[in-house]
Amino acid sequence: MPTARSRRGDRSAAWWSMSPARPGREPPGGGKNALMDPKNAVALVTGGASGLGAATARRLAGAGARVLVVDIDEERGRALAGELGGAFARADVSDGASLGAAVDQAAALGPLRIAVACAGVGWVARTVDKTGAPHDLAVFQKVVGVNLVGTFNLLRLAASAMAKVEPHETGERGVVVQTASVAAYEGQIGQIAYAASKGGVVGMTVPAARDLAPIGVRVMTIAPGLFDTPLLGLLPAAAREALGASVVFPRRLGDPAEYAALVEHIVRNPYLNGETVRLDGALRMQPK
Ligand SMILES: NC(=O)c1ccc[n+]([C@@H]2O[C@H](COP(=O)([O-])OP(=O)(O)OC[C@H]3O[C@@H](n4cnc5c(N)ncnc54)[C@H](O)[C@@H]3O)[C@@H](O)[C@H]2O)c1
Repeated sequence: MPTARSRRGDRSAAWWSMSPARPGREPPGGGKNALMDPKNAVALVTGGASGLGAATARRLAGAGARVLVVDIDEERGRALAGELGGAFARADVSDGASLGAAVDQAAALGPLRIAVACAGVGWVARTVDKTGAPHDLAVFQKVVGVNLVGTFNLLRLAASAMAKVEPHETGERGVVVQTASVAAYEGQIGQIAYAASKGGVVGMTVPAARDLAPIGVRVMTIAPGLFDTPLLGLLPAAAREALGASVVFPRRLGDPAEYAALVEHIVRNPYLNGETVRLDGALRMQPK
C-alpha cells in the first residue's frame, strides 16, 4: 500500500518520465525547453567599456556571443571590442537617435537576443544641503536621464529589434537585463537622485516583462551591492577596504566577474523573468 509520501514521489517521477512524450514538458536543458545559448546570438552591452559592463562583455564573448560594446568612452570601448573580436558603437544611452543607431548596428551583426544595460552615473547631493540650498534640479534630471531613461531607451529599442528575430521553438526571442542597485531599496544620505533612478529601474521590471511576453522577450534586473569597479577604484584603498568589510558575507567587495556570471545565468535560464535579484553578499546599506 503506497504511503502519501511515496505517492507524491511517484507523481514527481511520473512527471519527468512522461515528459518526453508531452510537448513542452521536457526537463530544462533539452527539447522544447532548451536553454537560451549565447552562442550564435548578438549581445549588446551598454556601459560596456568599464566595470560591470566590461566584465559582462567579456563573459558573453567567452560564451560565444557576438558582442557590441556601447559606451560614450570611445577609447576604452574600442579597445575592449577589439580584444573580444566584437564591435563598438559610441552612443549616449539617454539619446534616442544615438542609441537607435547602435541597436541597428547590433541587429546587422546577426540575431540580437541579449541586451544588457550597464551604463550609469552616480552623484552625491542632499535634497537640501547644509547651507539650506536645494538639490540642483539639472543634476537630478541628468542622473535620472542616464540611469532610468537610458535603461528604458535600451529596453524599448532592443525589444523592438528582438521582435524581428526568429523565435526559438519555445517562443523565446531574447532577454533584456537591467542594472539597478541596492540604493533602490536603501538609498543613503546624498543618494536621492541615484536611488530615484534605480528605484525606477526596479519598478519597470514587472510591467516590462508583461509588455514583452507576447513577443517572447524576458526582462530581468540585477541590483548590485558594492562592486570593485573603476567607480569605487577612485576611492583610497582604506575606504575601499572599509566598504568591503561592511558586507555580511563574503566580507569583501563584489567582483565584476560575479555580476557577469549572473547575467549569463539569466540569459540561459528561461524561467527567470520579471524579477529583481540582489547581488550583494547580504549587505543592507545604512543611512551613511
Ligand atoms: N560598482 C558598484 O558598486 C555598483 C553598485 C550598484 C550599481 N551599480 C551600477 O552598475 C552599472 C555599472 O557601474 P560600474 O560600477 O561598472 O561603473 P563604471 O563607471 O565602471 O562604468 C559605467 C560605464 O557607463 C558609461 N556611461 C556613462 N554614461 C553613459 C551614457 N550616457 N551613455 C553610454 N554610456 C555611458 C561610462 O563611460 C562607463 O564606461 C551602473 O548603472 C551603476 O549604477 C554599480
